[in-house]
Amino acid sequence: MEIQLWRELLNPYELAVNEIIVKFDHLIKQHKERGLYSPIEQVTGRVKSIPSILEKAQKKKISIEQIESKIEDLAGIRIICQFVEDIDKVVELIRNRSDMRVKKEKDYINNQKESGYRSYHLIVYYHIETLDGMKEIMVEIQIRTLAMNFWAVIEHSLQYKYKRNMPIEIRHQLMEAANSIVKLDEQMSSVRSEIIEAQNSFQAKASIVTEILNNIQNLYKVANKREVIKIQDEFYKVYEQNDLKKLRLFSEELDIITEGYHAQAISLSGIEHMYKNNTY
Ligand code: GTP
Ligand code: MG
Repeated sequence: MEIQLWRELLNPYELAVNEIIVKFDHLIKQHKERGLYSPIEQVTGRVKSIPSILEKAQKKKISIEQIESKIEDLAGIRIICQFVEDIDKVVELIRNRSDMRVKKEKDYINNQKESGYRSYHLIVYYHIETLDGMKEIMVEIQIRTLAMNFWAVIEHSLQYKYKRNMPIEIRHQLMEAANSIVKLDEQMSSVRSEIIEAQNSFQAKASIVTEILNNIQNLYKVANKREVIKIQDEFYKVYEQNDLKKLRLFSEELDIITEGYHAQAISLSGIEHMYKNNTY
């Protein structure tokens, strides 16, 4: 197949990968803005390279015409979570999305592969809009923890190095490492609630501080400069006390002050308007 035709074939998959990354990144952002712990830590994606497609097609006896219908991972998304428990949440989230329809699921977490590999896989149908109209394609989504990813990335490079002839000792070592990863994930799960609590309070503090700073910045436009500097100094004092409740209270008070200034600004501009138009 000509290179131009490959480009055309893979173009919709590239669009899908880019779109889906934007969507999941946005979910992470939304969690943070609401001061919530995000079950998704990181999202990456790739379109399968032409050499990998050719290799897979040859291995699985797939003809060029069947590539799109038989190769399910032309578009691949990888979602990394902090904890095993987050994976279920992400799977549920995907099942409930209206822009993805699940074709199949493979649970290699409860059914670890012989290699030691663990991850949750979904194949979903996804619509994209192209110059030629709407098209439905398949996308593979792999969901795994940071620890599972660590193992899978290293094992993959070793697989690549040895092709199908990985020495038995190395395979054993990888299997042992995989068992350690299972333990590590379990240990991390046992401190999960503590970590989530810490992250939540950090997120909450960060979003209040952002709001306060935005409010102060806006006040510079409408209020007396000396007044704003006083408010700012007050904020630093409250901030230093490291007390989320006090910070929240300060933010609420600041909201009221800001609203007051806005109301004043609006009524002032109303008076100006009346003067200009001689309607008083
Ligand atoms: P392919 O393996 O892609 O031919 O299709 P399949 O139907 O067997 O799907 P499977 O779910 O087994 O694998 C899909 C993808 O998961 C692979 O392309 C890899 O990215 C990943 N994967 C599966 N098994 C392993 C493994 O043992 N090690 C690593 N590192 N990755 C794996
Ligand atoms: Mg496979």
